[in-house]
Parts: sequence; C-alpha cells; structure tokens
Amino acid sequence: MLEISNLCKTFNAGTINEVMSLQDVSLTIEDGSFVCVLGTNGSGKSTLLNAVAGTFLSDSGKITLNGKDITRWPEYKRASQIGRVFQNPFSGTAPGMSIGENLALAAKRGKPRGLGWGLPVSLFEELKSRVKVLNMGLEERLESPIGKLSGGQRQALTLLMSSWIKPDLLLLDEHTAALDPKTASKVIELTEKIITEGNLTTLMVTHSMQQAVSLGDRIIMMHQGQIKYDFRAEEKKRLKVADLLALFDELRRKDQIDNVVAELLMREYV
Ligand SMILES: Nc1ncnc2c1ncn2[C@@H]1O[C@H](COP(=O)(O)OP(=O)(O)O)[C@@H](O)[C@H]1O
Ligand SMILES: [Mg+2]
Repeated sequence: MLEISNLCKTFNAGTINEVMSLQDVSLTIEDGSFVCVLGTNGSGKSTLLNAVAGTFLSDSGKITLNGKDITRWPEYKRASQIGRVFQNPFSGTAPGMSIGENLALAAKRGKPRGLGWGLPVSLFEELKSRVKVLNMGLEERLESPIGKLSGGQRQALTLLMSSWIKPDLLLLDEHTAALDPKTASKVIELTEKIITEGNLTTLMVTHSMQQAVSLGDRIIMMHQGQIKYDFRAEEKKRLKVADLLALFDELRRKDQIDNVVAELLMREYV
C-alpha cells in the first residue's frame, strides 16, 4: 500500500519562476489497485510520480510504501521496490548493452552482486521464455544491442524489466505517448497484461481519456498541483470519455475566471 500524506513540492521557491507543483497532496493506494492519473499540462502528474520515486525530496509531507517510511530515502534505494517506465523509450534501458544483458540486470535487481556478467544457461532460458510473452520475436535476438530496437520494442522491454521482480509499486509516466497509435495500443495491451497477471499496484499517468476509462480501477484528476477528482469502483466503471472531457472543460473555465478576476484586481491596484 502506498500512502502519501500532505505532500508539498515547490520549484524555484522565492523567485519569479516559483511553481507550487504539489500542494498538500494526500492519496492512499491499496495493494493491487491500478490508478490512472489524468490532468491538465503542468498539473503536477510527473512531479507526483517523481516525488514517490525519489527523483527529488519533497518539501514536506510523508510517503510510506508497504508500511515503510520512504520519505527521505534516496532514489536508488526506492528503485529496489519501485518499477518505472518513462515517456522516452531511450531512458529505460542501456543502449550499448544487449537485450539479454539489460534483462539480466533487471533479474538481479536487489540481489547480491557476484553472479558475474556471463549469463548462466538457466537464466538465459528464463529470459527467452519471458521475452517470448511480448510476442515481438525478440527472444531470438537476445544478443543484439538494445540500441537497434524500435521505440515500441524498447518500451515493451522496459515494462518487462521494471516488473521482472514484482515491484511494490509500478510508476508509468505517459509511457506510450511517444509511440505511434498502433504500437501504443500494443504496449498498452501488454501493460494491462503485466499489471493484471502480477496484481501490481500501479500509478499510470496518461493523456488518453480512452485509456483512463478502459483501464484500471480508479482515476484521479490533477490540476494546479492538487487532486481535484478521485473516482473509484462503480463510479469509475460508469465514467465515459465525455464525462472526463466535461470535467477538464470545467477546470479550464475556472482557470479563466480566476485569470479575469486576477486581472481586474491588478487594475484596481495599479
Ligand atoms: N525540475 C523542475 N524544475 C522546475 N520546475 C519544474 C520541475 N519539474 C516540474 N516543474 C514544474 O512543475 C509544474 C508541474 O510539472 P509536471 O509535474 O511535469 O506536470 P505534468 O502534469 O504535465 O506532468 C510545471 O509548472 C513544471 O514546469
Ligand atoms: Mg508529465
């Protein structure tokens, strides 16, 4: 279970570029829950995932994962329990290493070193059978460098790697946004399979309303560093793309009103 309480993060505090990217965010995610995170651009979705993964320390608030307080843990320590896939297909794997070597690293995560770099036959066979599940023919290419693969193949492998040893939490940040629609839907299919079969606790940021309504058991919608809506269970099941679009419109309209009011106030004081 992931428990986030009263999390705050401000970038460039005290300067003209100050942004309150997370404003007192609290969120509890039960084990095995698959949460889709929606939100306007710059609403704090990536910041939320980064704060949980430990890319930076939050200013205040608390994060616990399976009962452990990880708030002050460095990123590398959190990485032993948290799997991640980013938007950029180039960021999740080491391009100079072979497919097999990349996977072997994932398979060794959190285990003591000393296995050496050669792939033992048993591991090689395991890699092959797991890669076969991707249905991309990559099991015959374990020796080729990752750098030769397409974006979709890389994202599929990154997904496989980030879930190789069951993570306590899987974080996906628009991991299909850079792919063409056909490849994106293949990677999404695989994502659902991996999450469902592994019963993985997941936070998936997406800009696709369609993905949000058809995947997972909960939707949160962020705006201006806050969680504005949280739909679960039956309420989530009933949601349609049109409902989500209407909510987005409402948030944007409120912004416009706020801007007009701010401008009027400025005029009064200038
Ligand atoms: N490392 C950073 N330094 C400065 N500002 C940042 C940083 N990361 C995010 N921000 C700002 O925080 C806000 C939220 O960003 P982000 O979480 O990336 O939004 P999104 O919901 O689009 O993922 C934005 O205004 C962004 O410019
Ligand atoms: Mg983002």
